[in-house]
Amino acid sequence: MKALILIGGFGMRLKPLTLTVPKPLVEFANKPILCYQIEALVKIGVTEIILCINYQPEVMAQQVREYEDRYNVKITQIQEEEPLGTAGPIKHAREQLLKDATHPFFFVMNSDIVCEFNLDQLLEFHISHGKEASMYMTTAEDPSKYGVIVADENGRVSKFVEKPKEFVGSKVNAGLYIINNSLLDQLPKRPCMLETDIFPKLAEDGSLYVINLKGFWMDVGQPKDFMNGTKLYLQYLKDQGSEDLARGDNIIGNVLIHPSARVDPSSVIGPNVVIGEDCVVWNGVRISESTIFGKTQIKGHAFIRNSLIGWQSIIGQWVRIEGVSVVAEDVQIKDVVFINESFILPHKNITSSIPNPSTIV
Ligand code: GDD
Ligand code: MG
Repeated sequence: MKALILIGGFGMRLKPLTLTVPKPLVEFANKPILCYQIEALVKIGVTEIILCINYQPEVMAQQVREYEDRYNVKITQIQEEEPLGTAGPIKHAREQLLKDATHPFFFVMNSDIVCEFNLDQLLEFHISHGKEASMYMTTAEDPSKYGVIVADENGRVSKFVEKPKEFVGSKVNAGLYIINNSLLDQLPKRPCMLETDIFPKLAEDGSLYVINLKGFWMDVGQPKDFMNGTKLYLQYLKDQGSEDLARGDNIIGNVLIHPSARVDPSSVIGPNVVIGEDCVVWNGVRISESTIFGKTQIKGHAFIRNSLIGWQSIIGQWVRIEGVSVVAEDVQIKDVVFINESFILPHKNITSSIPNPSTIV
């Protein structure tokens, strides 16, 4: 069985992290988002994964070789000359999808979603109804950010509206599909979107079916959603009785600390915090609702809340970072600085406070 992962756009909304690391390789709970997806696909019996990618192909190529060995799966990269949208790349990958195909269908995934995949249910469902395409749907607080689906009790989709301006329903496209090989012939050879050019037509024809996705789901392509997704995933780990969650008098709620990270016991961590590989958290620090990516140092008495702190950064003593701030890779923040609701781009040296929402380039 084959699968295709859509990796495009520039990850603009997760900027500034994605200025140095492609979105699928940003670690979500200490593991690249792409790895969760590869694991789920391999588990269901996928033997070849095609990555349709339209930026930073060199960085991906290096990683992909490592993942092929680790997960024992063939990974093919197909690059686009220009952004082809979400349907264009599938047409572009047609030959590769059909070459030695063992099944009359293939999986498609958006690259920025995390969930309890359960792809076996989608597969079973797709085989049972026998129509052109199947998708997973979930419930969203703000459906206007997603593709909204209206379907009958058998899962036959009657309406698909991408990012509706007016209320259509609260069930949304989870960005996980199974598509028949035969549909490849119907896709135009130009930039086009599954969500606006293909799904609405399939819905009209009665060829698109949907099933509820169980468990947590999040599109982590935006900082706030990344944090919400982390919270849901850590709770999922807790419910699974995972041994990976941190324990200790200084830990509040669900916290994941990489085994190689060092956290001073006088620092209070949590809830909903992830601390990455080789990070060092000094004394008297307070961190909540945040992810600290690998090799970053948080100096004494710093306070970090609702923020993402990129790789190899140094956060000075008594620094305060909050209000959904995102600090990119290799940033140095001087002692006692206050940062509120701001984005700091890679390789910056911040020496004075940023109290109002700003982007530091
Ligand atoms: N190869 C390639 N080329 N991939 C692309 C391109 C492109 O030109 N443009 C976007 N993608 C990829 C993105 O990397 C992502 O994995 C996927 O296509 C969807 O793009 P997003 O930009 O993340 O879309 P969205 O989050 O606003 O909406 C989509 O996802 C929602 C679920 O998370 C839609 O599919 C919605 O219907 C859906 O509800
Ligand atoms: Mg998205």
